Amino acid sequence: MDRIRIKGGRPLSGDILIGGAKNAALPLMAAGLLTEERLELGNVPRLADIDTMAALLAQHGIAVEPDGRTLRLGGRITNSVAPYDIVRKMRASVLVLGPLLARVGEARVSLPGGCAIGTRPVDLHLKGLEQMGAAIRLDAGYIHASAPERLRGATIVFPFVSVGATENLMMAATLADGETVLVNAAREPEIGDLAACLTAMGARIEGIGTDRLTIQGVDRLHGARHAILPDRIETGTYACAAAITGGSVRLVGARLEYLGAVARVLRDAGVEIEEQPDALVVRRLNGLHGTDAMTEPYPGFPTDMQAQFMALMAVAEGAAMVTETIFENRFMHVPELNRMGARINVHGASAIVRGVAGLSGAPVMATDLRASVSLVLAGLAARGETVVNRVYHLDRGYESVERKLAACGADITREAG
Ligand code: UD1
Repeated sequence: MDRIRIKGGRPLSGDILIGGAKNAALPLMAAGLLTEERLELGNVPRLADIDTMAALLAQHGIAVEPDGRTLRLGGRITNSVAPYDIVRKMRASVLVLGPLLARVGEARVSLPGGCAIGTRPVDLHLKGLEQMGAAIRLDAGYIHASAPERLRGATIVFPFVSVGATENLMMAATLADGETVLVNAAREPEIGDLAACLTAMGARIEGIGTDRLTIQGVDRLHGARHAILPDRIETGTYACAAAITGGSVRLVGARLEYLGAVARVLRDAGVEIEEQPDALVVRRLNGLHGTDAMTEPYPGFPTDMQAQFMALMAVAEGAAMVTETIFENRFMHVPELNRMGARINVHGASAIVRGVAGLSGAPVMATDLRASVSLVLAGLAARGETVVNRVYHLDRGYESVERKLAACGADITREAG
């Protein structure tokens, strides 16, 4: 397994190109199941999760042809089973359920099961599809869903916000009979991106960007071209990298409007963010102050930025309280950061981070994507050498992380293991 070796202490300086958002690309690829015509997606990041979704679509009968940063999807659905071997690698595989059901009236999708950051059930996806007339049965680790009569529109009130359930049901509703209203829908920018692409494919969606989406089902969707929005989590991660090293980076392609609470919280902590027409310049000239953050659905502070922000707070002056409200077990980076000299105590859903003057390098290991990158950030700031093991987590969501950081002056290398 590959490792990343970092010698810390160098302020970053230079340009980093921000790629297309992974969490937009995955549902957009699943949307390729909604039409037999060609869907062309631009600005697709090169990530392990994208390859996993491509493999899943291919075995459903959809050809996925890469051409640089463009993916062309098209074909006839020949198989409506999403097997355990693929779904277990990536929970977002469950996003094929709604589109398959809407297109071919049946789907058998492996239950994604738990993952390192929590149990993460899919009950909201299933209840919503049932309200739209699907018959759902769980058996032998699989979701068996059928709707031979075509799904029908329904009003679905989510008891809490779910990104994936909003996406799955929005896709299913585009081809349902009649009107679907999704109440308390997620408002993440990636949902707006999916809605924009579905609209280009002929879907009728109102309320994009709000928590109430109204979808009028149509008989068929057609092909379209769509460029994926920039990754706001990659943006926030490299903003933290600039801040933790006391450097200055230009995040090319990043957009302030998608950052939500991250920009405010970073600015409160002493990080400068300047907007340019095609980039964000992020720098830290003075000290960092301990600043509280609580994860919430968009536009609140994203759970996917919690670990990176905690690494930053580990070296701030004063204390910060970081509260996780989305996933029940998302503090696995804490013991590893503490091994590097951080002073973090977890009390239930909150972590008290008491800033220290400096971190020291250590061999570390993480169990999920964002936790891994938080250890890379800590390594960039630490004295001495940090070795981050299990790099495959990073490759799921960060393209060329070591090359992007090295180009800005970091002493970072990947070792094949
Ligand atoms: C998406 C993101 C992930 C991010 C998360 C929260 C993608 C591919 N992944 O994941 O990076 O961390 O949003 O912003 O976009 N829940 C249920 N029942 C359900 C669905 C969800 O209880 O049927 C719970 C989850 O366990 C979690 C919360 O709802 O506690 C939010 O999860 P959700 O927004 O659905 O996350 P994902 O779509 O899986």
